[in-house]
Amino acid sequence: MLLEQHLERCDNDLRLLILRIAESCKTIRSGFASRQACSDTENVYGEKQMALDKWADEVLISDLRASGLVKYLASEEQPEILEFKSKGNLGVTMDPLDGSSLIGVNLAVGTIIGIFRGNVLSPGREMVAAMYVLYGPLTTLTYTARKGVHEFVLNPEGNYVLQEENIRIPEGNIFAPGALRKEYLPGHLKWIERLESEGYKIRFSGSFVADVHQILHKGGVFTYPGFRGKENGKLRLLFEGNPIGFIVTEAGGAASNGRGNILEIKPEKVSQRTPVYIGGKREIKLIEDINREA
Ligand code: AHG
Ligand code: MN
Ligand code: MN
Repeated sequence: MLLEQHLERCDNDLRLLILRIAESCKTIRSGFASRQACSDTENVYGEKQMALDKWADEVLISDLRASGLVKYLASEEQPEILEFKSKGNLGVTMDPLDGSSLIGVNLAVGTIIGIFRGNVLSPGREMVAAMYVLYGPLTTLTYTARKGVHEFVLNPEGNYVLQEENIRIPEGNIFAPGALRKEYLPGHLKWIERLESEGYKIRFSGSFVADVHQILHKGGVFTYPGFRGKENGKLRLLFEGNPIGFIVTEAGGAASNGRGNILEIKPEKVSQRTPVYIGGKREIKLIEDINREA
């Protein structure tokens, strides 16, 4: 089954938007070979923007502006929420390219999208859909519109073909722990030691979307915690934690900041960061229990 057929179960504007983004991601993938150099600018987080970060951002902004479906667009690469004159009322959050420091070494990167009706400065649980496209050996598109999590693979003819429907996160023993161990906070260290004692194996590539994709299929947990000096962690609530957390939650897992569900947080600003724990319910309950007892 093709993506466009699968999306017939969704509201029309949502269907058109997901298809529009799926097309934009084909364009982004096609730019990898020719646009590898670093740009000399920084984003609002003080991170060096790769040429591809900026270019992917421009591709999506211009496609979404032209779509007539989107009213608000918040991008990791933009300091403010963009507002478009549009008939539609959808709000989009995006990390145009996640894991971009890995482009130079040819590892998997992705595009992450959250979709709201209206205001994007809303708790993640109000999302109506979320998706990511992973550019690995294959290009895959994973989406949820609150009716299961489904995955498609881009075939040589340029069509997204259904690969797996109603994905459920299994139990597993992989963990992807971000940040430096010497800066872990006590509760986090205790949790990591517990997972290690249970035989969890490390799989951390430096690409959030790729690392969580593996965990969605094999089970386990991804974390980029708060740490000493940066208690809110590194990852961004709107662009990374929420959309991916929403997808994993829809697949039967959970998403937490270590104390509670990140999807419940009302964001105060677009650039808000959050500690992130995403994966199986058991692992997430364990960190929340440890932090509660501390
Ligand atoms: P981005 O490429 O969008 O800036 O995101 C990078 C993020 C995330 O993908 C990854 O999990 C994390 O940064 C890796 O950070 P470290 O280099 O600190 O491990
Ligand atoms: Mn990112
Ligand atoms: Mn990014």
